[in-house]
Amino acid sequence: MERLCVRGGRPLLGSVQIQGAKNSVLPILAATLLNAGVSVIHNCPALSDVDAAIAILRHLGCAVTRTGTTITVDAATVSRTDIPDPLMREMRSSVIFLGAILARCGEAKLSYPGGCELGPRPIDLHLDALRAMGVEVEERGGTLHCRGIVTGRVHSLSIPSVGATENIMLAACGGKGTTVICNAAREPEIVDLQQFLRSLGAEITGAGSSTVVIRGGKPLHDGEHTVISDRIVGATYLSACAACGGEVELLGVDPRWLLPITETFRKGGCQVTGEGNRVTLRCTEPLRSVPPIRTAPYPGFPTDAQPMVMAAFCKSRGVTLFVETIFENRYRQAAELARLGAEIRVEGRVAIVEGKKLLHGAAVEAADLRGGAALVVGALAAEGESVVTGLRHIDRGYASLVEDLGQLGASINR
Ligand code: EPU
Repeated sequence: MERLCVRGGRPLLGSVQIQGAKNSVLPILAATLLNAGVSVIHNCPALSDVDAAIAILRHLGCAVTRTGTTITVDAATVSRTDIPDPLMREMRSSVIFLGAILARCGEAKLSYPGGCELGPRPIDLHLDALRAMGVEVEERGGTLHCRGIVTGRVHSLSIPSVGATENIMLAACGGKGTTVICNAAREPEIVDLQQFLRSLGAEITGAGSSTVVIRGGKPLHDGEHTVISDRIVGATYLSACAACGGEVELLGVDPRWLLPITETFRKGGCQVTGEGNRVTLRCTEPLRSVPPIRTAPYPGFPTDAQPMVMAAFCKSRGVTLFVETIFENRYRQAAELARLGAEIRVEGRVAIVEGKKLLHGAAVEAADLRGGAALVVGALAAEGESVVTGLRHIDRGYASLVEDLGQLGASINR
């Protein structure tokens, strides 16, 4: 079994270039289906989720090549409209292919994505939107069969779902008329998807605000795009530095994307500077507890960063409260962090972290992607040696965790 060996208790020091964003590259790879031609996507991180997206594209008939971090998709030869169950199970976010296949072929058949480690992951908002826009949706025996071309209309989302916003954007590009998404998700990854769709010739505006407007049916052409950096990977390294002390500079991330995290660590006693595409965090004394951290859709505190930030506050002075509002089951790291000496009480959606002066090395196992990253942060902060297993979860989202942390002076080996 593969494992990470971490010798903790050392400060981190140095600069690190942040990989391309997982949550950008996945919808963008799906979007390459829209154009019956070639798309070239740069800055694609080497992740198992990216492998899964490529497997789906190949199954659908695309020719996909990969050179370094550049992926080239030729979607001229798309020959199928289905995604078989094993490929759907590989990655929950494969549901994003629904809108893209529909836009391209007018029909899509996939198995229902089901739940995941974070709890139930319904797609009712995706399906309601498609139905409202004229798509026939049949759900039978765990399979979804969608038919029809989207007819543009004004559609309001009851919550700003990232996946639903992306699916509607993709389906609407291949549809007729103008689609307006109200209460759209505002994440930087939505803006990145818009940028890629524009590079294909799609007419789409408003991403990054609550209203996205798509004029469907525009003729598309070959496109090229560079994926933005992964703000959650950036948040992971900031958390590690806040937990261990030292000074870390992130290269390639827009400081605005990380504001809820940097503000939290600033309140905890760190010095933070952000300029251009760089963010620096300096931590010279143990973290202090901060006012309650409540996860929220962008630009609020990201649920994806909650586990790693929690790990940092396990070694701090005072009590910090976390309120998880997005996912039901996102405290699975808590019991494992306790093995490192952390004191965390979970009561429903609230977690109470009583900061400790010291953590100690232990054997811990990742149960989900960001929870796994949180264990690495905890292990780096703990005195002595820790062993982290469950690495397949971490590999879904981190392309060079060991190399990056090693470059910052951490003792970490796979
Ligand atoms: N929801 C519904 N119905 C729907 C869709 C969503 O009830 O039809 C609920 C979800 O159950 C959840 C909330 O709405 O409680 C937010 O879900 P959202 O649709 O925004 O999330 P997602 O698109 O499934 C993306 C990221 C997640 C990230 C969330 C929230 C990708 C591929 N995934 O998921 O990333 O946590 O947005 O920001 O973009 C991760 O990277 O670790 C990760 C889980």
